[in-house]
Amino acid sequence: MREIGIGFVGCGEIASFHAQALLRTDQARIVAVCDRLPEKAQSMAATYGGRPYTQMDDLLADPAVEVVYVLTHHDSHAAISTRCLEAGKHVFCEKPLAMSLKDARHVGQVVQHSGRQLMVGFNHRWNPAVFWVHNQLIERNVHIRYLQLTFATSPFLNSWGGLAGEGGGVIPCLGSHAIDLACYLMGMTPMRVQAMTARLRLADPYLEDTTAILLQFENGEIASLSSHDHAPPDYTSYATGNPSRLVRAEIFAEGWAACVEDSHCVDIFGGNPNTIKFSTADPLEVLGIGPEDYAFIQSLVSGKPVSPGVADGIRAVQWVELALAAARLGKTQAPKVVKCQHR
Ligand SMILES: NC(=O)c1ccc[n+]([C@@H]2O[C@H](COP(=O)([O-])OP(=O)(O)OC[C@H]3O[C@@H](n4cnc5c(N)ncnc54)[C@H](O)[C@@H]3O)[C@@H](O)[C@H]2O)c1
Repeated sequence: MREIGIGFVGCGEIASFHAQALLRTDQARIVAVCDRLPEKAQSMAATYGGRPYTQMDDLLADPAVEVVYVLTHHDSHAAISTRCLEAGKHVFCEKPLAMSLKDARHVGQVVQHSGRQLMVGFNHRWNPAVFWVHNQLIERNVHIRYLQLTFATSPFLNSWGGLAGEGGGVIPCLGSHAIDLACYLMGMTPMRVQAMTARLRLADPYLEDTTAILLQFENGEIASLSSHDHAPPDYTSYATGNPSRLVRAEIFAEGWAACVEDSHCVDIFGGNPNTIKFSTADPLEVLGIGPEDYAFIQSLVSGKPVSPGVADGIRAVQWVELALAAARLGKTQAPKVVKCQHR
């Protein structure tokens, strides 16, 4: 079986999750890794294979690299993705696709001209419980009226993620996941947004650590999204390998409700009450990164469009930008041109 040659740009925390997931697919091989810190590139190469680089252009000139995983800080995603696409590589870009809608749309244009594929790292779509609920929504043609999503992690925003330049704070870091998941489950694009943010734990130079975002959809449906990093490590944490409570969801439709307590369990109400259990304790499965990378590689092998693709990435950036403006101005925000797209 042919193995696709993968290159990583950025060899930090998330890179090791993707490396483990890709090695499991047996259709991908890590052939090159790049980090601006040489010790990080070398340590990654020693653990997962590939030639270590400190300059991205050297990695892009390596003919064995067919696909690049962009795993750097947020402010470099759009520029690095653009360079990789222009060099003829397919791209997996961690969220968010860009720090501004203008930059995200530019990446969209480059994807179109390059004829290459770009997937955005919204891994929580593959959280086992969320994935099951999404399938039910499609199969039963369920129309959600009210959605409550909570993204809660142990503290991490006292790092580059909480800085204005590199990360953008809680809304780009966690809110982008919540916004994508809301659109994915609702099966629609929102019409308007309200948001509040608060800095309850951090101080300068870090930005807000807490947010509540309200999205409203075409017929008045509401998604209420809470994101923060106030959870103790035994509640949920990447580092302790216990990320199963990172996403919680309550989904209410006419005569039907689903509650995702954690990634192991969905309670169903309406008709016959039922509890569905998912027994995996594997963090790659719990976080959805294993099936996410598998789906990406399968799409590339079969030539099918990747999902979530660049349009999903642009949508999330747009609503992150609008939510940030809503929080800053204390006013509901809507795009200049409102277009409701359905599944
Ligand atoms: N999807 C998820 O659940 C999830 C979880 C954690 C992180 N992330 C995302 O993954 C990305 C990386 O996060 P992380 O936690 O791994 O960060 P990190 O700081 O641990 O790693 C980032 C690495 O990129 C390197 N780097 C930065 N700019 C570079 C450049 N121009 N060229 C080469 N190397 C460069 C840094 O030296 C660092 O080693 C971010 O987009 C973050 O939001 C996603």
